[in-house]
Amino acid sequence: MSAGPFRLAILISGRGSNMIAIARACLAGSIPARVAVVISDRADAAGLAGAAALGIETATVLQPQGGGGSAFERSLAGALQKHQPDMIALAGFMRILTGRFVDHYLGRMLNIHPSLLPAYRGLHTHARVLAAGDTEHGASVHFVTAELDAGPVVLQSRVAVQPGDSEATLSARVQATEHIIYPRVLGWCAQRRLAWREGAAWLDGRRLDAPMVEDFRAAGHH
Ligand code: GAR
Repeated sequence: MSAGPFRLAILISGRGSNMIAIARACLAGSIPARVAVVISDRADAAGLAGAAALGIETATVLQPQGGGGSAFERSLAGALQKHQPDMIALAGFMRILTGRFVDHYLGRMLNIHPSLLPAYRGLHTHARVLAAGDTEHGASVHFVTAELDAGPVVLQSRVAVQPGDSEATLSARVQATEHIIYPRVLGWCAQRRLAWREGAAWLDGRRLDAPMVEDFRAAGHH
């Protein structure tokens, strides 16, 4: 762990709205951390410009020509090593990392996933929730472990599925809550309130056997 302010590395592949929400929370002083670097696996990720506009260092790590996944992960590890992050936040990072890579950062890597895990791991969560006729949906901030979208969940947001929702309206409602819960969890990390121990998440010295839940169903997130 590095001396000085708690250092975050944020990994993105696209728009980066979660990254921006986290960066703004750091810059506003509402979480005692700084974003040391934003790394994208795509050169055209819109979030890169957003990070640069906030004065944050950015890097792009691409799949090396002719190299396999392990070559990519070596480059990514090198970029991370350079910035010595205390915590790595995956924020719309759409690449699956190998178990070997994940194990190296175990307890130091979080992800946000757009569903009430363990429901709807994987992609297209909003469409799948609508197709199933569910009345509730949400997002989960969880520690990253080798099994995809299966690590211990720290905090979930719960939203209502409204009659007439489309994938766009539902995902917008969920994303508005992501921008609240992800900075909150990273704030707990920076305050050293959240820890990884014995394969579980611990908050304020208590093992989280079930996720914390923030209920936005009546909060006007329509
Ligand atoms: C977020 O909604 C996040 O939950 C989702 O991608 C979006 C990225 O948006 N992540 C996944 O689907 C991970 N499998 P953003 O780039 O605007 O933060």
